[in-house]
Amino acid sequence: MASGTADRLIQAALNAREHAHAPFSHFLVGAAIEHQSGIIFTGCNIENSTYGLTMCAERVAIFKALSEGAKPGEFSRVVVATDVERLTPPCGACRQILWEFCGDCELILVNLTGRSETCRLSELLPRPFDVSFL
Ligand code: THU
Repeated sequence: MASGTADRLIQAALNAREHAHAPFSHFLVGAAIEHQSGIIFTGCNIENSTYGLTMCAERVAIFKALSEGAKPGEFSRVVVATDVERLTPPCGACRQILWEFCGDCELILVNLTGRSETCRLSELLPRPFDVSFL
């Protein structure tokens, strides 16, 4: 269950961003995903010299959560933190992955100035493809 203020979750995403490995784009991203138990899973983007193997912060965070035993549908809120004026939404691939495991979760986009914006994943990914079509 999403519990109260998102301050702790936002701070976790900002902290995770500090670990980003982005020597090619220099675009550092942090993500934090809140599990219903209150546990926070974090991730940062990790780039690769082949570019295509780069992994986004959001996917690192969700895969860490799943690999540590959290289950699909047990997540309530996701924070994405960057250092740009225009708050950064998850890329298309991450929207699909987040939909798969977090459903229509709350998304909080933040930057280093403290500006934030909250929306639902369904606003960013209308008419999603998922297991219900299989
Ligand atoms: N990036 C993320 O980590 N998350 C997103 O949703 C958008 C893009 C990263 C990937 C790459 O390392 C850098 O930002 C520039 O695309």
